[in-house]
Amino acid sequence: MTGLNPEKQPLLALVNRETPLDPAGYDKKGGWRGLRRALGMSPAEIITEVTDSKLRGRGGAGFSTGMKWSFVPKESSKDRLKYIVANGDEMEPGTFKDRILVEGNPLQLIEGMIISAYAIQARHGIIFLRGEYHLGLERLQQAVIQAREAGFLGENILGSGFDFDLHVHPSAGRYICGEETALITALEGRRANPRAKPPFPQIGGLWGAPTVVNNIETFSNIPHILANGTEWYLGLSACVDGGTKLYGVSGRAKRPGVFELPLGTSLGVILNECAGGMQDGYKLRAFLPGGASTAFLGAEHADIIMDYPTPEKAGSRLGTGLAILLDDKTSPIG
Ligand SMILES: Cc1cc2nc3c(=O)[nH]c(=O)nc-3n(C[C@H](O)[C@H](O)[C@H](O)COP(=O)(O)O)c2cc1C
Repeated sequence: MTGLNPEKQPLLALVNRETPLDPAGYDKKGGWRGLRRALGMSPAEIITEVTDSKLRGRGGAGFSTGMKWSFVPKESSKDRLKYIVANGDEMEPGTFKDRILVEGNPLQLIEGMIISAYAIQARHGIIFLRGEYHLGLERLQQAVIQAREAGFLGENILGSGFDFDLHVHPSAGRYICGEETALITALEGRRANPRAKPPFPQIGGLWGAPTVVNNIETFSNIPHILANGTEWYLGLSACVDGGTKLYGVSGRAKRPGVFELPLGTSLGVILNECAGGMQDGYKLRAFLPGGASTAFLGAEHADIIMDYPTPEKAGSRLGTGLAILLDDKTSPIG
């Protein structure tokens, strides 16, 4: 996307939905720096760095990413199966941020997954993608092939001795497939019913093996944390948790869309400064902060801080951070 500051908007800075970067072009623009540094670190050091960065999962629940990885059993051998899964189901109504990342810079996601796989010593990764994302699927498949040819996937990645490969799996469709245990069941070729926890996927996930499931936006943050360090990452945000967030609005705004802003930006800034405010003749009546699975908040919360705790205190959740606006002339009932 043009006009973005890579220092402040690292996730979208290299997004190009016309022609995404190939591995060499990505390299020239600063890509792969995080991976190169990570491969010189121990897996435990990476997990500590990601934990200290205070990256919380961007798929909706907001769990600490580093802590999630730390639950995976540490033993590693070629026979010990572990999996990394990117959740790109994105069937949450009003949510369209992961689509932009996979269509516009699939290598950022792939780099994030390789680093994550190294951190938990997984040798197999799967990107689970919403079935309707045909362009995203094409772009991801092409990027995986290019990354493999360039030595970033496959055996002995960049001469490190670490082996890891990736497959892209389009969803057959159903909202529940985005729930991580249902997603795992779907990947096993069965009806996508959620499973009871425990065991959590980090202990007993895909085919019973330790599995980390993270959202596509979550993985896309990882290269930047490793390339630039924890202090830099914490400095991106406007709250206690780290990083930027892909926020967005849909509904009767003048310019609906996705915007990369400091985590902890207010809805007022997102709606009025980025999305141009409400369309003429419409007033904000209420909004869902981040998808249909979050609860409505009234217009009195129009300037709410969109971090993790504040929407919860108000009786809702941040969810995916892409707000659906309800205006004063549209019936929420139908
Ligand atoms: C009904 C339901 C649907 C979900 N859909 C998605 C989804 O489309 N994408 C996603 O990343 N997480 C989704 N989640 C959350 C996942 O279960 C899981 O928490 C998430 O993928 C973990 O990644 P994160 O820690 O990086 O956020 C859904 C959860 C539920 C209960």
